[in-house]
Amino acid sequence: MPAPDLTLKTTIGPLRLVNPFLLASGPPTASGEQIRHAFRLGWAGAVTKTIVPDTMKIQDVSPRFAVWKDENLRLLGFENIELLSRKNESYWTTEIAAIREDYPDQVLIASIMASPDPVEWQALAGTMQDAGADAIELNVSCPHGMPERGVGAAIGQHADLVNNVTRAVRQVIHVPLVVKLTPNITDIVPVAQAAVTGGADILSAINSVQCLMGIDLETLEPVPSVAGSTAYGGYSGPAVKPIGLRVISQIARELPVPLIGIGGISRWQDAAEYIAAGASAVQVCTAVMWDGAGIIREMNAGLSGYLARRKFAGVSDLKGRALPCIAAHAALSRATRSHATAGFPERCTSCGRCVISCRDGGYHAISLEDRRLVIDARRCDGCSLCSHICPEGVIVMQVRTHGSG
Ligand SMILES: Cc1cc2nc3c(=O)[nH]c(=O)nc-3n(C[C@H](O)[C@H](O)[C@H](O)COP(=O)(O)O)c2cc1C
Repeated sequence: MPAPDLTLKTTIGPLRLVNPFLLASGPPTASGEQIRHAFRLGWAGAVTKTIVPDTMKIQDVSPRFAVWKDENLRLLGFENIELLSRKNESYWTTEIAAIREDYPDQVLIASIMASPDPVEWQALAGTMQDAGADAIELNVSCPHGMPERGVGAAIGQHADLVNNVTRAVRQVIHVPLVVKLTPNITDIVPVAQAAVTGGADILSAINSVQCLMGIDLETLEPVPSVAGSTAYGGYSGPAVKPIGLRVISQIARELPVPLIGIGGISRWQDAAEYIAAGASAVQVCTAVMWDGAGIIREMNAGLSGYLARRKFAGVSDLKGRALPCIAAHAALSRATRSHATAGFPERCTSCGRCVISCRDGGYHAISLEDRRLVIDARRCDGCSLCSHICPEGVIVMQVRTHGSG
């Protein structure tokens, strides 16, 4: 096992981590073998694929994934309609006990889900705790399949139900309790509050975002098509990071509870952003499915390099640094305005994309005169569209205090 990088050691509530990176519940944690493989590569911990009581039947469909990727096979968004662990309770109790013994420095969290009856949650949580799980994560957030049975996001969308199930499990376990929240709700804060009041030590967010990935225009069947039909699924991967960041920062601004950020993390920079938004640690699922568990090496090296370069004392020193910069819209400055400028004119290929965007979606402030970029400062409204559309990075926004030339 590689030596843990001391600068990345951190804590999340009562849990000690050798670095802030955990595998999220999903296919990369569907078996003990996969969890062991990840621990050998340097992951600080793992959340098992959600374990259910033996009485709950889990039958997956095939195919169950659909993807949105760019022309270089880089993943943008990922949909799944996968259900929960198909392995039984005794498989997991044996594996949890064995992994616990083999990897004492790593944190192993058992994700669980049971029927709407809180007594079933209590029994399953107790079983996994007794097997040696370092913490229990309540999956009250799966957006597909399970809500039809009254669980998953059907619980997580109601503060009172979240409070009930959290309170019930809290009564019977002494290890830390994590509640995993769904983003498929208008206001996350009352649900987060209900979990904390119910006895959660840590909140993790987000589970996947309910979606319909697309429709094959030849067959007119939505994807993934299971014998001609699909169901609404869970969206994950890079496309959902802005939603996860929003949820984590909203909770961090309101509640002093330790948070684990999840959603679209595939590079160390994503993790650093979640930490700056208030998370103490992060979980990763889709990126490991796409690029393998070996991405931990670059994530660890990149994050520790960044912390050293920016002279942060450690992960906790970065935590929440961006929060004071999130404000109500009305509180944002109107005294400073940005203006588009041709920062790097030598790079301009006269492609004209900025001209078209500014004409049809902006303020008609850009033209090409003799293939030369001209920005009319009186017309420019400072929206920044041109700086995003320019493929060569020619246009940069320059901040001016209101009233200055
Ligand atoms: C194929 C697949 C299966 C998943 N299964 C579970 C699960 O069993 N339990 C759970 O809590 N979350 C499950 N998730 C959700 C992930 O743990 C995670 O919350 C979500 O995918 C967002 O993170 P990501 O963008 O890093 O994947 C699953 C996600 C995917 C893609």
